[in-house]
Amino acid sequence: MSRKNIVLIGFMGTGKTAVGRRLAQRLKREFVDTDQEIERITGKTVAQIFARDGEVRFRSEEALLTKKLAAREGLVISTGGGLVLNPENVKLLGENGVFIHLKASPEVIYQRLKNKKNRPLLLKGDKRERIKSLLAEREEVYSRLAGCTVDTGEVSVDEAVERIVSYLKEMGINE
Ligand code: S3P
Repeated sequence: MSRKNIVLIGFMGTGKTAVGRRLAQRLKREFVDTDQEIERITGKTVAQIFARDGEVRFRSEEALLTKKLAAREGLVISTGGGLVLNPENVKLLGENGVFIHLKASPEVIYQRLKNKKNRPLLLKGDKRERIKSLLAEREEVYSRLAGCTVDTGEVSVDEAVERIVSYLKEMGINE
């Protein structure tokens, strides 16, 4: 039986936390959301870490947590949207993990995040434009890493989970 970690990657607002939690229930695996885990460990919200300590500090918390998670197995891990931009994080998670990419169009992401105050990277400037430009920078990285991409603007959380489960079966993961 393969106990590779299942690692959900993708932009903010693509449903990584919602889909990850449901996928973990479906597969009877432990679920870890990296943002929530960082908040638990530090006792601060992601927004507070960005505001008080800066993004560099947040990225180092993320890298530290990634090391710990990559040493474990059998997890479903939902990652913060910037985590896989660090090649060291990708290398560590990839050694015993499979990447699944969740995507959505800029407009769908905007609609999901427009009233949210907890995404520090989207607080400056016009939110729609910020989403478009960050997504354009990052999309290639997300798609390149993952063998499976699900568009959550087009399917429900349950359908997204079923597509991921089929992919894992095809790959002989979680049998
Ligand atoms: C970030 C995404 C956020 C969070 C932080 C930075 C990013 O997580 O880690 O605000 O760089 O894309 P979600 O993708 O869960 O929103």
